[in-house]
Amino acid sequence: MKKFIIFILAAALMLSITACGSSTSSNPSSGSSAEKKDILIGVAMPTQSLQRWNQDGANLKAQLEAKGYKVDLQYANNDVNTQIQQIENMILKGCKVLVIASIDGSALTDVLKKAAENNIKVIAYDRLIMQSEHVDYYATFDNFKVGVIQGQYIEEKLGLKEGKGPYNIEIFGGAPDDNNSLFFYNGAMSVLKPYIDNGQLVVVSGQTDFVTVAIPNWDSAKAQARMDNLITAYYADETRLDAILSPNDSLAIGIVASLKNNGYGTPDKPYPILTGQDCDKANVIAMINGQQSMSVFKDTRVLAAKVVEMVEAILEGKEVPVNDTETYHNGVKVVPSYLCEPVYVDVNNYKEILLDSGYYTEADLQQ
Ligand code: BGC
Repeated sequence: MKKFIIFILAAALMLSITACGSSTSSNPSSGSSAEKKDILIGVAMPTQSLQRWNQDGANLKAQLEAKGYKVDLQYANNDVNTQIQQIENMILKGCKVLVIASIDGSALTDVLKKAAENNIKVIAYDRLIMQSEHVDYYATFDNFKVGVIQGQYIEEKLGLKEGKGPYNIEIFGGAPDDNNSLFFYNGAMSVLKPYIDNGQLVVVSGQTDFVTVAIPNWDSAKAQARMDNLITAYYADETRLDAILSPNDSLAIGIVASLKNNGYGTPDKPYPILTGQDCDKANVIAMINGQQSMSVFKDTRVLAAKVVEMVEAILEGKEVPVNDTETYHNGVKVVPSYLCEPVYVDVNNYKEILLDSGYYTEADLQQ
């Protein structure tokens, strides 16, 4: 009996040793996070001057770190050479994947060649990187659809489908060196152009082509200056301005400043319909105040989560999630892309979309 008990105890001991051993070696999370601690991911963002890029950077960093990666996050102050240097540094530090929201989509060809020589995979973030074969994936929101949503908002609010009009409108475009800008413009014009052609919409300035209406650097002050000029030249005689197509919030905030300075916002001279994109805090507040009509919401948490999935798949040699392999040609090749869904926000649904989802708190939107 004694011998039997000793045998049982010894067997139990053996079992527990085997179990411990197997639990450390086969537990994928502890094993891989130990390895992941040595894996550096470079995240290059364009500027801290716009709220969205701060959120994008912070979300990416937090979500990648939560998975156990090391992150080198850099902002380039909208300066192309600074961004190139930052990416060169990331390559020198031995990062394994680069996530890049470019400033000038066509300026990274040489530095990406270096990345490829070092076997580094590249994900273009939000903005496509042009003229390089070394862009492996692209993660963004459906940029054409962003423009369509803005165009449809104007169409609906003015009752254009019902044949109403003519209404006066002015058109703004984004930064000419950002590949997204033409997608936004083309998406919006796909809805608005037929109404311009049939006279339901009148662009009083006559300025409609992208090159003429584009605002360099997405600069609020430049948008404000263009709006001032338009008002002085075409609306000073009290010609009514019914709508303004603005591709994003940084331009919309400049346009609002101009409208305000020029006496809009009274019963006789109401604010025109004004579109935007990003749902920056200042712009949501402008919506609540009736100065901006809508913004397209691109939840940066969702985009960051998708990029983290892509990074993991690349590093684990798994299939990388993409849902578009046709649309985004960068001048050299079609870059396999994942397009997230944008949605519109206005004063009627912002609480549900921005507050209930935890994107903002009530305090964030205090005036
Ligand atoms: C982004 C927009 C942003 C704009 C200005 C675009 O590439 O898609 O969300 O408003 O850049 O930073």
